[in-house]
Amino acid sequence: MSQLSEREERVKWFQADRFGMFIHWGLYAIPAKGEWVRNAEEIKAEDYCPLMEEFSVKNYDPKKWAKLAKQAKQAGMKYAVLTAKHHDGFCLFDSKLTDFTSMYAPCKRDLVREFLNAFRAEGLKVGLYYSLLDWNHPDYPHYGDWHHPMRRNEEYKEKNHNFENYLKYMHGQVEELMTNYGKIDIIWFDFSYGEMRAEKWRAEELMKMVRKHQPHIICDNRLEGSGESSGSIKTANPTSYAGDFISPEQMIPPHNLVNELGMAVPWEACITLNLHWGYNSEDKRYKSAQMIIRTLVECVSKGGNLLVNIGPNALGEIPEESCKILEEVGNWMKVNGESIYHCGAADLEKPEWGRWTKNGKYLYAHIFEEQVGAICLKGLKNKIKRIRRLSDLSEIKESDYWNLMEYRENSFFHLYPSMTCSYPLPDEKDTVVRIELREI
Ligand code: GLC
Repeated sequence: MSQLSEREERVKWFQADRFGMFIHWGLYAIPAKGEWVRNAEEIKAEDYCPLMEEFSVKNYDPKKWAKLAKQAKQAGMKYAVLTAKHHDGFCLFDSKLTDFTSMYAPCKRDLVREFLNAFRAEGLKVGLYYSLLDWNHPDYPHYGDWHHPMRRNEEYKEKNHNFENYLKYMHGQVEELMTNYGKIDIIWFDFSYGEMRAEKWRAEELMKMVRKHQPHIICDNRLEGSGESSGSIKTANPTSYAGDFISPEQMIPPHNLVNELGMAVPWEACITLNLHWGYNSEDKRYKSAQMIIRTLVECVSKGGNLLVNIGPNALGEIPEESCKILEEVGNWMKVNGESIYHCGAADLEKPEWGRWTKNGKYLYAHIFEEQVGAICLKGLKNKIKRIRRLSDLSEIKESDYWNLMEYRENSFFHLYPSMTCSYPLPDEKDTVVRIELREI
């Protein structure tokens, strides 16, 4: 099987599931200013590492994690990805290669294992995020690196770093994750920059090892780095470490993503609920449930997935605001999930009132904008078998009201059976109408 068709096989479940949860959790929840705090404030290791002595995650117990998993499931999420190690180097798992782990914090627990158990028990697929950067490892470049907290600290100017040593450590830790925890569905490497990319990570060997232990696993594209490079996922011959999906961050691509042959490439946008990945106690700028729903629809309408982040606090609790948003999203998903799961792009122009998603003979009209009268289905004249409101499967008829006569090349409908209007929308977040196409 060619590399591209192997990828197609691997990502089948991923492209059907469409919606996942990202979890950024670590020591940085204590300073509570997001996961880049060590970089932003140029904090020395001796001032950062002691945070570990406080990492008791007092309110974190397997039942809480199960609740978290349930919450994800109720929100309609089908998979979840947890930060096993972020850039600060602190590990939420039992690594034999360092003491800088949750096993040596007061909680003395393998938080990754408990996450995996709880989420699997709820029937969710599981993924692990692993940072390629490591601001705690002595052999990771310090002075002059683009991102290291000590990048400008003259004390480190003359220090030598044995990068090979770091690679051994990094490969070793990934192997621990790939061998000690059963089936892992996603490995999410983060990230490449400048020369720190691709073979600098010994990426080919790394992926070979990963796939040896977890042949089915899917991987993001950040080992590779830029989408424009010669072996990237967007080329006709991607490298073995180019990844299975593109990972746009804090933005939604303006169009479907394709490779240089014009073939669709799987992608997953990851976004935060407020403005930070890691817990930030001051950041109350949360997105609305409506915005999350519409963003999810936008991703699916362009053939992509959405990974929505939560940042639990130092006690192991998810912020109340995040729970509320996920609950609302879940209420919408319960009714409208059919228009998301197993769906993709519709190959139709974006309509004025919202977006299209499609699954086989079913087209889903996601109506975001109220329309004065009839809703126009451009270019669908004579192609429609039935129209149903997705929330109750009640009948909607194609309309031939007198004021539409001049626009006959299109099909139209009104949202309400006995009225010639389409407002107010029954669900202002997104009213979904299912259009069954005629088999031609
Ligand atoms: C980034 C950031 C990071 C976050 C991530 C999520 O590259 O460094 O803090 O974990 O992307 O996509």
